[in-house]
Amino acid sequence: MTQPQTLTITRPDDWHLHLRDDAALAYTVPWSAAQFARAIVMPNLRPAVVSTAQALDYRMRILSSRPYGSVFEPLMTLYLTDSTPPAEIVRARASGVVHAVKLYPAGATTNSDSGVTDLERVYPVFEVMQAEGMPLLIHGEVTDSQVDVFDREAVFIERHLVRIRRDFPALKIVLEHVTTAQAVRYVRDQTALDARGTPLLAATITAHHLLYNRNAMFAGGMRPHYYCLPILKREQHRQALLEAATSGDARFFLGTDSAPHARVLKEAACGCAGCLTAPHALELYAHAFEQCGALHRLEGFASFYGADFYGLKRNDSRVTLLRGGSTVPERLPYVDGDIVPLDAGRTLDWRLERSGSLPG
Ligand code: DOR
Ligand code: ZN
Repeated sequence: MTQPQTLTITRPDDWHLHLRDDAALAYTVPWSAAQFARAIVMPNLRPAVVSTAQALDYRMRILSSRPYGSVFEPLMTLYLTDSTPPAEIVRARASGVVHAVKLYPAGATTNSDSGVTDLERVYPVFEVMQAEGMPLLIHGEVTDSQVDVFDREAVFIERHLVRIRRDFPALKIVLEHVTTAQAVRYVRDQTALDARGTPLLAATITAHHLLYNRNAMFAGGMRPHYYCLPILKREQHRQALLEAATSGDARFFLGTDSAPHARVLKEAACGCAGCLTAPHALELYAHAFEQCGALHRLEGFASFYGADFYGLKRNDSRVTLLRGGSTVPERLPYVDGDIVPLDAGRTLDWRLERSGSLPG
């Protein structure tokens, strides 16, 4: 069979993205705007985005960083803390621009120190979220130092997610950046739908977890640019993620978790967690899907299922991928000097055709 030379799909959205703030926005917003129509923007800034008023301000800073002519739409989130007032959810919903609330277990990852220390404390907030139809986005890892770092996602599901779902059966939940066969199995086992007929529980999957297993972090030495959280897992888990992403199951959709950190902060004695994939995200996903002979499943995963889950309209515009990729730059300019994208120096099989109004 001859290989397709182009692939045109509905413009995708990124359902999990870190744009950072201030000077970083001049880099991060154009990267994502060139690829995606919309993105769910993570709130783990310093200080964290804990109120609707802060989310509105942050949104304005993002909008003013868009390239000329771009209609990229940031979908804002709130950062859940032990002291989030339940009334904040009502305000967030009424704003029309806050689309979800993010749960970071305190200490689980970058800027999560003001996260939730005890789930019972936020039960009154979950109550209102359930009533308001506000999705809960979960960084699903336990922070217990007794639990091996590679097991933290599976243990979170057993210890916490099962209980949240039992106590709030109508709460919409996204288990973010799933990395394990256990997470895939758990999400698949939950078949409940909301009133609109869309799944109550879904999961995002990153490009880096589809493309790499944990060996990538140690190939010939320590490779900090492959260090992210949840950490890369064994090959059997990557295979489970590939199978889920390419299965056409609407409970699994695209979320890059592109998480920029300047090169000096990654190549350090205690390097930050996060992979930068936003500048070439779609090319990476296309590569992963093609490896499985499932390019025809990319559009549902990248452009339909997330919008359906969030109750948003699917995009009208389209993007085209062309065979014959460009080489990923070794470094890109960024705050504090530069940044190393995932797969730096590698030539990808696909490249995104750049539309006229958006810089590449
Ligand atoms: O690798 C990660 N980086 N995982 C996260 O959960 C947070 C993110 C970040 O903000 O850097
Ligand atoms: Zn993230």
